Amino acid sequence: MLGHTPSADRTAGGAGGNAPDRPVTAARRATKAVIPAAGLATRFLPATKAVPKELLPVVDRPVLQYIVEEAASASINDILLVTGRGKTSMVDHFDRNPYLESRLEAKGDIARLNAVRRTSELAEIYTCRQGEPLGLGHAVSYAESHVGGEPFAVLLADEFCAEDEPLLPSMLDLQAQTGGIVLSFIEIPEDQVNRYGIASVEEVDPSLAAVSDAGSVVKVTGLVEKPPVGEAPSNLAVVGRYVLPFSIFDAIRRTKPGSGGEIQLTDAMAILLAEGTPVHGIVYRGHRYDTGIPLGYLQATVQLACEREDLGPAFRQWLVDYLAGSSPAGGAS
Ligand code: UTP
Repeated sequence: MLGHTPSADRTAGGAGGNAPDRPVTAARRATKAVIPAAGLATRFLPATKAVPKELLPVVDRPVLQYIVEEAASASINDILLVTGRGKTSMVDHFDRNPYLESRLEAKGDIARLNAVRRTSELAEIYTCRQGEPLGLGHAVSYAESHVGGEPFAVLLADEFCAEDEPLLPSMLDLQAQTGGIVLSFIEIPEDQVNRYGIASVEEVDPSLAAVSDAGSVVKVTGLVEKPPVGEAPSNLAVVGRYVLPFSIFDAIRRTKPGSGGEIQLTDAMAILLAEGTPVHGIVYRGHRYDTGIPLGYLQATVQLACEREDLGPAFRQWLVDYLAGSSPAGGAS
């Protein structure tokens, strides 16, 4: 379903004050998400010159559909998609297509008909356009009127979690407990810290630790962007799922252009952290697919194809033969 962006009429809320390691509010669980998808996707050129990386297919669904499904299965049915120049086809994917539907219906192709219809029923999709890709923080700032004073989730448009290992529900529960910022991390090899935002962390109160079943909960004491190898405070890398209080918008307004001349979300979060907003993270123990670069995209495609009940057996067999150097040259029928 597609909708128009309503204007916000509520005042700013969010956390603030000092940051004790215990819940400061028992707020309502966030019900809206923002998917910033206006970036230039330079790491995937030339494929992404005319086709948004968010629409590249992983098996037979575009990446963005996995992300909208991830939100919907966490009971987030209101999604603001931040699009950019040349990327409006992303919106069409979530719209009805009556002509296509009637052709499939006439052919009696009910499975495909249902698959096509399902994309328009997953969530209420609203859109806005970031005129120029001036950074993730800048993209998120477009959501201010839409989220209307409430906490909200941010899902980056090129990565997603394994369907049977959900992360977002635990993040939403944790944010409702703390009222602050909730991040997610993966553990990475020490020699890769210079490619990620890295967190310094300490243990949390056991009452908060119990909130998550997606991974252990940590209290975040600092964030550093791409530290040199050997100088990182941990091996916990920030990944593309955030649950943020409404006060982030004020912090973004106060954020100066940082790395690459862009308004960075990390810098805005660092302002709130310094001012006492509680920041916690979940060290995700499930599987995350990163489709923003060709290698991660290929890994996601192969892994998910192998797991599919319909395609998996034949694809696995082909892969085994191929790796053994004996695959037939022809394609599948
Ligand atoms: P990335 O850092 O992956 O940037 O953005 P990118 O442009 O998509 O890709 P590369 O690095 O050039 O290959 C993370 C997320 O933030 C969005 C992107 O679309 C992506 O989902 N984004 C980034 C925006 O919406 N606007 C921006 O100005 C920057």
